[in-house]
Amino acid sequence: MNILRFSDICAQGKARGQRVFIRADLNVPQDDAGHITEDTRIRASLPCIRIALDAGAAVMVTSHLGRPTEGEFKPEDSLAPVATRLSELLGLEVSLRSNWVDGVQVAPGQVVLLENCRVNKGEKKNNPELAQKMAALCDIFVHDAFGTAHRAEASTYGIAQYAKVACAGPLLAAEIDAISKALANPKRPLAAIVAGSKVSTKLTILKSLAANVDQLIVGGGIANTFMLAAGLKIGKSLAEPALLAEARTVIEAMKARGAEVPIPTDVVVAKTFAADAQATVKAATEVADDDLILDIGPQTAARLATQLKAAGTIVWNGPVGVFEFEAFSHGTETIARAIAESSAFSIAGGGDTLAAIAKYGIEKQVGYISTGGGAFLEILEGKQLPAFEILEKRARG
Ligand code: 3PG
Repeated sequence: MNILRFSDICAQGKARGQRVFIRADLNVPQDDAGHITEDTRIRASLPCIRIALDAGAAVMVTSHLGRPTEGEFKPEDSLAPVATRLSELLGLEVSLRSNWVDGVQVAPGQVVLLENCRVNKGEKKNNPELAQKMAALCDIFVHDAFGTAHRAEASTYGIAQYAKVACAGPLLAAEIDAISKALANPKRPLAAIVAGSKVSTKLTILKSLAANVDQLIVGGGIANTFMLAAGLKIGKSLAEPALLAEARTVIEAMKARGAEVPIPTDVVVAKTFAADAQATVKAATEVADDDLILDIGPQTAARLATQLKAAGTIVWNGPVGVFEFEAFSHGTETIARAIAESSAFSIAGGGDTLAAIAKYGIEKQVGYISTGGGAFLEILEGKQLPAFEILEKRARG
């Protein structure tokens, strides 16, 4: 992807003394008291701020937090906890500025955090006047918010249209590079794991991947629907019978390309959905009417693990079983460990997937862990994200 990279601009000395506006994604989870419970996104945003400071820029950073009502700032919308955490991590004072759209005082070597950008009227609808005012605050606009790359808002899209220079920060650039490596120029075989409760929420992803991947591994409720489509009984397991035709289309599309949707040959079932429910391993052909499928069985997991170890590239979105319950976690654990041991380049994303990666401690063995939720899913759907589109356009001049 042909985009301007902020790291190149800094390396060329072109950021010295410049006003740099960084759109980060600092949308972190908080508890009821407002304490940050997980700060991965803040940590992932540090390299961009550091290279801007090292390059001698005057640094403004903003982000959204939650989905506040525009024009109605409430204390819980404030980035104040983020400013505190950023100050700790950077080891320097990061002051928080409110009402910043009409002007920001910041000197080279300083970082200021601009209060929740989604409180500004016109942000969500990408209002041109708001975007122009933001663009006028800076010499260089840096998009480093991959988690928000699927939104065309004033601080993510409009500002990139009007700023003198618009470029990608190191986090956005790393996401672009990892995605291109996995999906645009993959080393084959390319295996994708798409799991989750419903086919309906991931139908576009399944269809898009069916045209590209060599193995489309389905899990969770999605696998149940595919088992039904393959003529197997699934008892009272979660599935979407209305989408059987769609599932068959995906299976056929894969077959036509000489590729495969591996259907489970054994499963782990229970009579109730509970952590202490009795877990029983059964052949996929033996599922009883009152059984609930809560995981793939050991034979299936072993077969998939072999495929993953032989893959050239792996894309992972979603755990294959109810991995929060010990008795039904083994399928997901086997998959996670196979990805960790595989020499394939792997890319993973999505909240549950990240939780599984953390549970099995394989962070360092996954090639790239995406910071995007919805943005990662839209990439898998094959969509062109607005952030990439505008940055490419600006790079063309
Ligand atoms: C996310 O949490 O996925 C991003 O920060 C985007 O948030 P949004 O869905 O509210 O735009």
